[in-house]
Amino acid sequence: MKITIMTLFPEMIEQCISHSIMGRAIQNGIVNIEAIDIRKYSGNKHNQVDDYPYGGGAGMLIRAQPVKDCYNAIEKSHNTRVIYMTPAGKVWNQKLAEEFSNEKEIIILCGHYEGIDQRVIDDIVTDEISIGDYVLTGGEIAAITITDSIIRLIDGVLGKKESFEMESFSDNLLEHNHYTRPRVFEGREVPEVLLEGNHKKIEQYRREQSLRNTAIKRPDLLEKANLSICEKEYVKNFLE
Ligand code: ADE
Repeated sequence: MKITIMTLFPEMIEQCISHSIMGRAIQNGIVNIEAIDIRKYSGNKHNQVDDYPYGGGAGMLIRAQPVKDCYNAIEKSHNTRVIYMTPAGKVWNQKLAEEFSNEKEIIILCGHYEGIDQRVIDDIVTDEISIGDYVLTGGEIAAITITDSIIRLIDGVLGKKESFEMESFSDNLLEHNHYTRPRVFEGREVPEVLLEGNHKKIEQYRREQSLRNTAIKRPDLLEKANLSICEKEYVKNFLE
């Protein structure tokens, strides 16, 4: 998969993607992530990409032309999706991460200052995405967030040890709790059932934990979860 990120701060992206699992996926050639500096396409000798908004108001806007020229310089197919990171977009979630992880290539556009001239957004953007109902100083951190959540779903990116088969949000339930050695930590014991080696009992215990965690921490998710009649009764114990 190829992800091209259009930004005024390519170093921010390069720093973040070069470590841990994302860094390894790039090294192994599973994903190709490139940050392109919109400023290179300023078209003027001062490398200025912003200008005052028509109609007045605070702040500066990124001009349409550098963004369009930057976009034109990217090698892509005619149907490549272009995501614009904006707090006004659709709120990102695991389902969207799964959807985008099936694309061969994606372009992500990061805004800064007060935003980008609407005409180039209308021209090139296919999807407007927000990572939550708060405002960041720019789209870079949001772009890295969605990139991370997409590429970890691509075949071969996670090792067996990091497998995502049983993880938060699969089937709209939160994960069960996890424990490792030692058996007793500052007086707190690992639940007995995990030490007994009865895999059926362990599976059931973990399912109950997962239901309990979801009911307590994210009851809103339960509506979309696939629960048996018994499980629906069970979660009622933890709902107010
Ligand atoms: N840019 C500024 N705030 C943002 C947000 N919440 N999500 C995506 N991009 C943004």
